[in-house]
Amino acid sequence: MKAIGVSIIGCGSAAPKQVMTNEDLSLLVDTSDEWIRTRTGIRKRHLVTTDSSLSDLSAQAAKEAIAMAALDPGEIDLIILATSTADDLFGSAAKIQHMLEANQAVAFDLTAACSGFVFGLITAAQFIRTGVYKNVLVIGADILSRWVDWSDRSTCVLFGDGAGAVVCQGTTDDDNLLGFAMYSDGKQHDALNLAYHGNDTALKEGITINQGTYQPITMKGRDVYRFAVEKVPEVIEKALFNAQLTTDDIDWLILHQANQRIIDAVAKRLKIPPQKVIANLDEYGNTSAASIPLALDEAVRQGKIKPGEIVASSGFGAGLTWGATIFRWGISPQS
Ligand code: ACO
Repeated sequence: MKAIGVSIIGCGSAAPKQVMTNEDLSLLVDTSDEWIRTRTGIRKRHLVTTDSSLSDLSAQAAKEAIAMAALDPGEIDLIILATSTADDLFGSAAKIQHMLEANQAVAFDLTAACSGFVFGLITAAQFIRTGVYKNVLVIGADILSRWVDWSDRSTCVLFGDGAGAVVCQGTTDDDNLLGFAMYSDGKQHDALNLAYHGNDTALKEGITINQGTYQPITMKGRDVYRFAVEKVPEVIEKALFNAQLTTDDIDWLILHQANQRIIDAVAKRLKIPPQKVIANLDEYGNTSAASIPLALDEAVRQGKIKPGEIVASSGFGAGLTWGATIFRWGISPQS
């Protein structure tokens, strides 16, 4: 029978073992634990080891999510990898498909910076609701340590590496993706960049090409802060409206883990009490597309988020992009 709804029935995550504390960073750049903690809430970040990769982290998170969903990898129909830091510019999703032995699945990358996981979840739901695919794996993963300027104290203190994943399944009864909304605004594209820079090379008379590489992250921190505090409450309100719910119906708020002050300001605007807010950026920093599924997975495995509870999540970041989903969490943790 054709699916009419979507349930999120499994989650998983992976963080590298290598941990860099604020004290470690203060040996690298002119900063302090006190500055980083009070301005951002971050205490540590996990950085990928030289023998690991985005595909490795993603596969680890995905295996956990598939196990929790009690599925065989061969039952996955579609894999969406939300990332801005693929191992290969042509995409890493298909390699992850191979690593998982998800032989029936089609896989592709999706790039929307720190909104990538939310955009991926919404994309997955469209394939499920149209009845095209039943089991969709959505991975959010990033290794921003590859692209941070480690001599720039205004950005290097913020980011960490990680991966998170969920399994979405088509249902013929309840629709547990209750509402969503998503936006982008290219006018502000220069607020946050990991941009390509190259040099011109003449191949022959009249034919010149440009070759180079991507340059470290640049960010207008205050602009991004103001954007987040204004737009995130709005997009959550919009998703709630689409779900015909109000903020009182929310059991848990999981925002992209960029800055504790942004999280607190958004929760305050929405009048959501601190005990309903999930945050783990003190341990991981900003892991970009990984941050929401990483926080979700920890909260589910800690027994905080229980089956049937309503989660509001919002991603925001470069593009600029922002989006929100309201979903009912699917099943009990089994592992
Ligand atoms: N240690 C010590 N001092 C620092 C550091 C540091 N690590 N970084 C900056 N400073 C200094 C600045 O030089 C400045 O000094 P000055 O007053 O002498 O010029 C002072 O601290 C204040 O700098 P601001 O940039 O104004 O600090 P602010 O309070 O705005 O905090 C921060 C900066 C934390 C980056 C904040 O603006 C923020 O969180 N913005 C949002 C960032 C964000 O969410 N980005 C990710 C989006 S997700 C994605 O798509 C990747």
